[in-house]
Amino acid sequence: MIYFDNAATTAMTTEVLKSYNDVVTRVIGNPSSLHNLGTVAGRLLNASRRQISDLLNVSPDEIFFTSGGSESDNWIIKGTAFEKQAFGKHLIISSVEHPAIKNSAEWLRDQGFKVDYAPVDKNGFVLVDELEKLICEDTILVSVMAVNNEVGAIQPLKEIATLLGNFPKISFHVDAVQAIGKIATKDFLLPRVDFASFSAHKFHGPRGVGFNYIKSGKRLTPLIHGGGQESGKRSTTENLPGIVATAKALRISLEGFEEKHAHVAEMKKVIYNELKEHNNVLVFSGVDNYAANILTWGIKGIRGEVTVHAFEDHEIYISTTSACASRKNSAAGTLMAMKVDPKLATSAVRISLDYTNTMTEVELFLTVFRQVLLKLG
Ligand SMILES: Cc1ncc(COP(=O)(O)O)c(C=O)c1O
Repeated sequence: MIYFDNAATTAMTTEVLKSYNDVVTRVIGNPSSLHNLGTVAGRLLNASRRQISDLLNVSPDEIFFTSGGSESDNWIIKGTAFEKQAFGKHLIISSVEHPAIKNSAEWLRDQGFKVDYAPVDKNGFVLVDELEKLICEDTILVSVMAVNNEVGAIQPLKEIATLLGNFPKISFHVDAVQAIGKIATKDFLLPRVDFASFSAHKFHGPRGVGFNYIKSGKRLTPLIHGGGQESGKRSTTENLPGIVATAKALRISLEGFEEKHAHVAEMKKVIYNELKEHNNVLVFSGVDNYAANILTWGIKGIRGEVTVHAFEDHEIYISTTSACASRKNSAAGTLMAMKVDPKLATSAVRISLDYTNTMTEVELFLTVFRQVLLKLG
């Protein structure tokens, strides 16, 4: 079996699973309980928060746990809108955001907010000049992802941060779900960024755990009310085993970043070079300024799901650009925003690599690729 769908989700590693199991079986207390078992759980929660904040070079009181990337994104978009509506009701998001951002913004539109989409160029990069034109007196939030999940484009966050330096009242959110461990943290957690969202299952942590970076002093209306956990900002008893496992997974995924990145980039280059040799293969992702793990391409005239199943017959798992879009059978939103001809866009499939993949798997993949191309192309 070859798993090349790591942008959809990753498996917990043995070490991460061990942490998870240890906490599930040994730490039964609720961190909010007054007794000793609660104190032990509370200490573990604080230690995990500190571990994550140290890894990101931020303060522990800037990390807030959630149930995953979607909740993290929903909270920032809706929480900022509710918090700042007295100052303005205009939001700008890029046209290639994940549905967790897009659909939150669209929902707010129904509640009376105004939403504008910053366009991307034909390669999937946000046009910062166009984004600038959208800014107005009423703008309260700009949200742009760090790495696009469908084609891997690394967005020009430094330029956007520089632009927003002139607009200190506008909050700046970065969806970092596909970025952490894939590009250097300092390249997306920039000083001008107010909020950033993360999801554990994208870096070998458990599903159903995420967190937000909320810059100290930045206010956000809570979406989940209750017992006042997470400093009163996000109630519900903390998923302690998941949080401890997340901290461990993050440490492991950031360890030896340079080597892991170089290995993944090398695997992508080998596949990319081969794909480029075939006239009936379209390559939608690039190499420079794209994440090293994501490569989106298609066989001309063949629908993406047909290609996915052709590889599945050989126990090779790839996807049609994003796990959420694949079941809907629709062309990827990012490719549409890049103005790719819809007929060509429906052929798109995504390979997403991980440092745990090997060059042997790449070679096997390419052998199967040549057979699939002969059969379908
Ligand atoms: C860019 C991006 N944001 C948000 C999410 C949602 O994360 P989760 O699956 O943890 O809800 C994903 C998941 O694919 C993603 O790729």
